[in-house]
Amino acid sequence: MHVVGNKLNIKSTVVKNICCIGAGYVGGPTMAVIAKHCPEIQVNVVDLNKNRINSWNDINLNNLPIFEPGLDLIIKEVRGKNLHFSTDVKDSVIQADLIFIAVNTPTKSKGIGAGQASDLRWIEGCVREISEYAQGHTIVVEKSTLPVRTAEVIEKILNTKSKNDDKTFSILSNPEFLSEGTAIDDLENPNRVLIGGEDELAIKTLYDIYAKWVNKEKIICTNIWSSELSKLTANAFLAQRISSINAISALCEKTGADINEVTNAVGKDERIGEKFLKSGPGFGGSCFKKDILNLVYLCNYFNLPEVADYWMNIINLNHWQQKRISKLIIEKLFGTVTGKKIAILGFSFKANTNDTRESPAIQICKDLLDEGAKLAIHDPRVSQKNIEFELGIKSKNIDESDSRIKGDSLTQEIYFYWCENIKDSVNGADAVVILTEWNEYKNLKPNLFNTNMRKPAWIFDCRDVLNNFQVDKNTINYWRVGKG
Ligand code: NAD
Ligand code: UGA
Repeated sequence: MHVVGNKLNIKSTVVKNICCIGAGYVGGPTMAVIAKHCPEIQVNVVDLNKNRINSWNDINLNNLPIFEPGLDLIIKEVRGKNLHFSTDVKDSVIQADLIFIAVNTPTKSKGIGAGQASDLRWIEGCVREISEYAQGHTIVVEKSTLPVRTAEVIEKILNTKSKNDDKTFSILSNPEFLSEGTAIDDLENPNRVLIGGEDELAIKTLYDIYAKWVNKEKIICTNIWSSELSKLTANAFLAQRISSINAISALCEKTGADINEVTNAVGKDERIGEKFLKSGPGFGGSCFKKDILNLVYLCNYFNLPEVADYWMNIINLNHWQQKRISKLIIEKLFGTVTGKKIAILGFSFKANTNDTRESPAIQICKDLLDEGAKLAIHDPRVSQKNIEFELGIKSKNIDESDSRIKGDSLTQEIYFYWCENIKDSVNGADAVVILTEWNEYKNLKPNLFNTNMRKPAWIFDCRDVLNNFQVDKNTINYWRVGKG
């Protein structure tokens, strides 16, 4: 039936109970928005991770496991009414008419396809649970990002089991396009909702849920494989724009062109568009790299090596951008950063999220640590523990009475300083490296740098965020991505 949604005029099944397996960055916000717009449906979000579920149920909304602007207000409105978080997968699956699968699908680290293919063990795990516990007819919806034709695997597992019972399943693909940091707005006002499937009744049932708040013209229905491939393609195209503009940023720095002027001039062509052309330290986040690697794996699998190479270069360029920034920092600081204090402002992969997965800050910090730098890291939302996890080293708190780092330049121990405020991070530093475009950093006053840094000092504004920035040019050097 692959028609645009507003032509669907069959009657859908009434959904009274939804289960979402996976209470992460997608499952949590997406179900909160569905619960808000569908008060007649009970929505149960389940996860194996007890700590995560406890945080979702925490009375203090500051302790929710993920930070997303606007999420706390929705949770306050619907939690305990028709939105529930628990670890009881079995019971929630038994009750559900419709199940979203929103579990993690990282890149495989071992075995066939390691380093490229998606690791589907979590998908398989929950599909087996669904096949065990579901009752009657259940619509199973792929919300996680999956390789093309995964629905076939899901169907095989579900239908093998159901042959012996009276249970039946319909499988749909409904990839999520939200971006972290703007997840609630993206879910409330999506530019499209994509539903892929073969069973018209199941499609109409999911369609009717979204139609409660999404304009029907924006709900696209396709076949299941187009839906799965569209998700990978969308992420690959977005990432491609960032690698393209970052490649040009390096050329700007060599030639004296200004990256902002170039993006403005280029983006004004409507065929190109202005969005997603901001040069920076490279893309991060849990999905772009993994989804492109997945696409590369699929292309090789289907014997299209040229196509695989084409997409692989988007990732190679991204890695190169990060390496070129850390190399440039070392070169500018007279070729050595050993024992020097370097303030790192921002560790999340973008502003307005506490997510650090694949953040460009990880590679850049590791490179500087390898060269012996003493990093003083600040981030308004990322926890000290999370940075320790990502860098694989311990941290120390900066001595509050004197935040300068003294006399430890020759120690062998590798650690970083965790700074609760920006001033502690910048105080006595030889360089400041801005890696995330947090609002907190945009209006920093030149005086913070002029009076507190060790001179001659460098500011590396890798996101070009500092507004109208006037530093003392005799003592402070100012580098901006794409401007030099
Ligand atoms: P996440 O790691 O934040 O959350 C996944 C959760 O699933 C974890 O809490 C994990 O404990 C749980 N889980 C795994 N197996 C389980 C099982 N058998 N039973 C119960 N719980 C289980 O991941 P995420 O960022 O929410 O991403 C989920 C999927 O959505 C991925 O496929 C990702 O590619 C896709 N996606 C993510 C985003 C994003 O912005 N993060 C956007 C669009 C799509
Ligand atoms: C991205 C997509 O934008 C979502 O549509 C998709 O659903 C999601 O991946 C996913 O599948 O996980 P997300 O990774 O949350 O969302 O955030 P983006 O806003 O896309 O940013 C990704 C990275 O690109 C960040 O590191 C960001 O700083 C960088 N970026 C983005 C730039 O360097 N320049 C830009 O112009 C835009």
